[in-house]
Amino acid sequence: MAEFETSGYSNRIDLYGSDGVKSYDKYCEKEPVIQAFLCPAMEEFLKSEVPGKKVLDIGCGDGYWSYQAARYGAKSIDGFDVQEKMVTLARQATSQFNMVNIKVGDVMDMPYGDETFDVAMSLYVTCNLDRERLSKHFKELYRVLKPGGKAVIVNLAEKSVDKMYLTVRGDEVVVKGKINKSLKQLPKHPTVSQVNKAFQGLQEVTKMFFAADDDGDVYQVEDASRLSNGDSIWSKTKFLTFPNFFYRDQFMLDSVIIAGLSIDQIDDIYTEERMVLYNQTHPESQLSKSVVDHPLAYIHHVSKALPNC
Ligand SMILES: C[S@@+](CC[C@H](N)C(=O)[O-])C[C@H]1O[C@@H](n2cnc3c(N)ncnc32)[C@H](O)[C@@H]1O
Repeated sequence: MAEFETSGYSNRIDLYGSDGVKSYDKYCEKEPVIQAFLCPAMEEFLKSEVPGKKVLDIGCGDGYWSYQAARYGAKSIDGFDVQEKMVTLARQATSQFNMVNIKVGDVMDMPYGDETFDVAMSLYVTCNLDRERLSKHFKELYRVLKPGGKAVIVNLAEKSVDKMYLTVRGDEVVVKGKINKSLKQLPKHPTVSQVNKAFQGLQEVTKMFFAADDDGDVYQVEDASRLSNGDSIWSKTKFLTFPNFFYRDQFMLDSVIIAGLSIDQIDDIYTEERMVLYNQTHPESQLSKSVVDHPLAYIHHVSKALPNC
């Protein structure tokens, strides 16, 4: 088996236009938190579940996980993404494997027949889905999995928000004044690029969460309890501002179960222990700081029961 490949594949793309693409690329190259925390956990899954199986990559993005599934000996890999530009990139990334088939598709109506796949992967997709899409994503996942099939779903953890309260460099009062000015400049229901533009220059803000209320006004999140399932939120780190939908952990679990799937295991991949271990084994790395900045995520291992189970 080839070693898990994490280098030489820097073309990871953000959802949101060319500025987002550039900054996400830069972010991932500079602060390889995904390689340090998600990849080792996924490697176990790829080794044990993927060889010889029919695999689905939901919201495949630039094809990173389709590529890895191919390297780990999947029988076939189907990937889809709602964005054509991602499909193009994923096709390029996997072009050396003839058992990979990537197409445009939406989680609302996955372009495959019932009970097609042994294994499915949905990584950092649910955080891009509003409530209707989230519920459909799980129902469609149930439909396309074979009985006995397994899936991994990587979700943003609710506790991310607690880790992302405002952190600034310099005089907090001054920086808060700048934040308020930026917030005021935003129209109601701003687009992602409007939000990015408003906060691009604010280098003094190293961590911040903000959200849109029901009227579309953007406010800085100071108390996670104000957030409801499906609220639009933005995370600002030192390098990047990116939009997501907020869901409580329990809501995620309930949605999976309502769709008919079972939850077999939940991995918290950004644990304090893993961060400490990483820093001991990589003393030269500055990763601990960036890991704290990185939105935290869980891997949900789910399955579809066999008949009469
Ligand atoms: C953060 S990226 C993750 C990409 C990939 N799974 C990974 O981990 O590298 C989220 C992806 O979900 C896709 N996506 C968002 N909404 C979708 C939908 N309704 N149907 C299919 N794909 C969607 C986006 O286009 C984007 O490529």
